[in-house]
Amino acid sequence: MDDLKSIIRDVPDFPKKGIIFKDITTLLADAKSFQRMVDLLSHRYIGQKIDKVVGVEARGFIIGAALAYKLGAGVVLVRKPGKLPSETFSKSYALEYGSDTLEIHKDAIKKGEKILLADDVLATGGTMSAVVDMVNVLGGDLVECCFMAELEFLKGRSKLPQGKVFSLLKF
Ligand code: PRP
Repeated sequence: MDDLKSIIRDVPDFPKKGIIFKDITTLLADAKSFQRMVDLLSHRYIGQKIDKVVGVEARGFIIGAALAYKLGAGVVLVRKPGKLPSETFSKSYALEYGSDTLEIHKDAIKKGEKILLADDVLATGGTMSAVVDMVNVLGGDLVECCFMAELEFLKGRSKLPQGKVFSLLKF
């Protein structure tokens, strides 16, 4: 896994001074690494009859759609407010300063469907924890929250259902 990790670029002082940003665009742009990452992640869920993969705007769409294609599942979008055209369910969650809101179409998930959640990075866990709540409210059967990379020092997995978190690359 170290070769995949090493292709993720560190960008110092982004988005603000003192933060070293893990820039996954370098991995996405490398054909072999992108393919390997999708193959490794999807392999874990083959045969599990996943109905839908939920991707989180924006980078989570890339991982979510690739996984769904490999698994023969549908893609569900969790978007920032005001982007989804039909009836939505919203969930707000706390940030370090302030709060943020995500939306999902109310009819995107049917009761009992097997749902895989996908995002590029697990940091504080606030985003994915909100998505877990949304899927529960809509009656989906959560299989796992999967991530390409996890920033372990931020302890985001403690906000997510125990035993239902998988990350490919750990920092
Ligand atoms: C990033 C990342 C995750 C989230 C992780 O998204 O893609 O969705 O933050 O952070 P958390 O675990 O602390 O909640 P961002 O909001 O930067 O959006 P983007 O994908 O549109 O760049």
